[in-house]
Amino acid sequence: MSLIAFELSGEHPDIPVAEVIGALESENIEFSVRYRFDQVLIVDIPNLNSNVNANASVIANIDTNMDQVSKLSKRLALTWHIINVLGISDSTLPDILNMVENVDFDEPASLTYKVRAKKIKRKSPISSEDIERKIGGVLYNKGYRADLINPDVRYRAVLTDGKCIFGRVLASVDRGSFEDRKPQNKPFFYPGVLMPRLARSLVNIARSGPGSIILDPYCGTGGILVEAGLMGAVTVGCDVQRKILLGARMNLDFYVPDHSLMFQDAGNMALKDSCIDCVVTDPPYGRSALIQARSLDILMKRSLCEIFRVLRPGGRAVVVSECPVEEWAVSASFSVVDVYIQRVHRSLTRRITVLDKHQ
Ligand SMILES: C[S@@+](CC[C@H](N)C(=O)[O-])C[C@H]1O[C@@H](n2cnc3c(N)ncnc32)[C@H](O)[C@@H]1O
Repeated sequence: MSLIAFELSGEHPDIPVAEVIGALESENIEFSVRYRFDQVLIVDIPNLNSNVNANASVIANIDTNMDQVSKLSKRLALTWHIINVLGISDSTLPDILNMVENVDFDEPASLTYKVRAKKIKRKSPISSEDIERKIGGVLYNKGYRADLINPDVRYRAVLTDGKCIFGRVLASVDRGSFEDRKPQNKPFFYPGVLMPRLARSLVNIARSGPGSIILDPYCGTGGILVEAGLMGAVTVGCDVQRKILLGARMNLDFYVPDHSLMFQDAGNMALKDSCIDCVVTDPPYGRSALIQARSLDILMKRSLCEIFRVLRPGGRAVVVSECPVEEWAVSASFSVVDVYIQRVHRSLTRRITVLDKHQ
């Protein structure tokens, strides 16, 4: 197992990539980035531990004794498929077929397969069906038989940036579970909250994982903490509205019963220095959400200093905001790792700022 492709959602050019890297780092998986194409990240993982040898759809549902691939597929929100790369070619049909012809397939001929082709942003003039049929022809000549309903092995050809990435699907991300947790479906709903897939991706970028202590000092209804708690993190939340905190408790009780919630100001938290592993937070933007401070600027400055104080050296904070926070973060002694700009709608553009507290 070596070259692994992550087929990414196209919602943002960089956040899905950062999510994969954060998840790999948090799982302590040794890797190096080899190629980056539109919606595909390919990394070299020399020692990837995966039980996958045949039926990828079964592997994606394993819950106990999870191997690294299964764990990644359960963690990631902005990845569609994790693929073991068998070949990369230019994206013309003869190049693709020549590449597949030369792949050294190690599956026994008794296993059935299905091929799916995906054209990223429809960039290729060849139809996906044509690619699937022609690759199927090569596999047929090698002695393999197709089963479109319940195949043992799923192959995927992804066409992007003039290349075709062909490989065996190791696992696919279950998008339905994020849909099930959309804010309106939770026990307590309040408008203006992050959607679960974005919240999960930020938790991964912060490198939260099983057993790590994550703080959301402006936790609202607890959406970020629910996503972290479902990955096994120890969750701590603060807010200054009692009604909202009760709602956060209802939501967290429903998904992750083990949590701590505090009625307190993010600018003055009753937490010890360096006791938190990572912070992910979505403070008020000064529009509809209540601000308990003289001004949003003052609140952000004070709370960034507090976040720096409670974070352990080596820890990371991910802050969602409408206005730039880099200057305040630097004066609180943070290093700015990245800033992602995300247009939400005509009158709201979010900034997602990734901050590290150095060792
Ligand atoms: C944008 S909302 C957070 C939404 C949250 N991500 C969710 O999933 O519900 C911002 C929250 O910050 C809280 N807040 C405002 N001023 C605060 C302060 N000084 N300290 C802590 N929380 C505060 C508000 O009560 C509000 O719930």
